[in-house]
Amino acid sequence: MAKYSVALIPGDGTGPEVMAEGVKVLDAAAAKFGFSFSYQNYDFGGERYMKTGEVLPDSAIEEFRKFDALYLGAIGHPEVAPGILEKGILLRTRFELDQYINLRPVKLYPGVDTPIKDKGPEDIDFIVIRENSADIYTGIGGVQRKGTPYEVAMQTMVYSRNEVDRCLRYAFECTRKRNKDLTLTLCGKTNVLTHVFGLWERAFHEMGEKEFPDIKREYAHVDATTMWMVKNPEWFDVVVTGNMFGDIITDLGAMIQGGMGIAAGGNLNPEGVSMFEPIGGSAPKYTGMNIINPLACIFAGQMLMDEVGEPEAALKIEEACVAFLTSGQIKGLSASDIKAAGMTTTAIGDWIADYIAKN
Ligand code: IPM
Ligand code: MN
Repeated sequence: MAKYSVALIPGDGTGPEVMAEGVKVLDAAAAKFGFSFSYQNYDFGGERYMKTGEVLPDSAIEEFRKFDALYLGAIGHPEVAPGILEKGILLRTRFELDQYINLRPVKLYPGVDTPIKDKGPEDIDFIVIRENSADIYTGIGGVQRKGTPYEVAMQTMVYSRNEVDRCLRYAFECTRKRNKDLTLTLCGKTNVLTHVFGLWERAFHEMGEKEFPDIKREYAHVDATTMWMVKNPEWFDVVVTGNMFGDIITDLGAMIQGGMGIAAGGNLNPEGVSMFEPIGGSAPKYTGMNIINPLACIFAGQMLMDEVGEPEAALKIEEACVAFLTSGQIKGLSASDIKAAGMTTTAIGDWIADYIAKN
């Protein structure tokens, strides 16, 4: 009997191709450690939307609540107006399942090139904890007198103390558990956004002082954070920030760890159902070519393993990915690098699954 149930949402573009490899690797690791997964497939995405007009039925959200985890390929279709699928599937699931943490490791693996000169795997290894349930993202605001010269548009940044506290608590605990530099950096904008980041800053120091005296507290403005992430990425251990800033700095993070071909994220509800995804897009132009890099999706699978409570299997997946990356079979992570190396999406998944079976 399967131990863990997972809802698969392969989504658009190359999503289904990378997801197939992610599932292959999950199964290989589960077999190795004596458990199994059961999967249910959901075809939400651009194609279904164009055929039926349906983005995500309410019933799906209710079904999602019953799984141990959700695994998402990619959302975004060139023939669907931007925002419809992203908001209707990705953001709606995050919000309705209250996945209030977006966990994004920024780790440069051996065998992967970073665009930052003179930095290596020992310098680029930190975690961004992006608050994932509030901020400007909830759509508070509106438009008046639309289309006239007097149009007014508002989109408001809102945080409650509770939303800030639960995210900070997760971040402090994560820093303690990780046990690297025991340093948590709050990334904000206290020099301008004094209301919202004033709250974050007070909550940060109050909680740190009272509950986490073993964790060193640092603060950086968001603009400075992007500068340090490039200049001195080794300064960071764990970074905690709001939803909007977290969205921005984690794309930068993905680039310094080698690009969208490798960056993974987890949308976590520590008390509920979490969703794991490669953070790159659906790469429509590579759809069906079997040359998209599945590593980001496989790393998302590693995070899924960890979250369901199988840390050994998670480490094995990471070990297998590192073995692949250092094997010299591909010279870079892009689809053209994979093509140039005569590799394929499926061959990479096969290699990693095979490594797990044999090691
Ligand atoms: C991300 C994405 C999403 C976000 C989009 C697609 C809605 O950029 O996961 O970072 O802004 O959160
Ligand atoms: Mn983003």
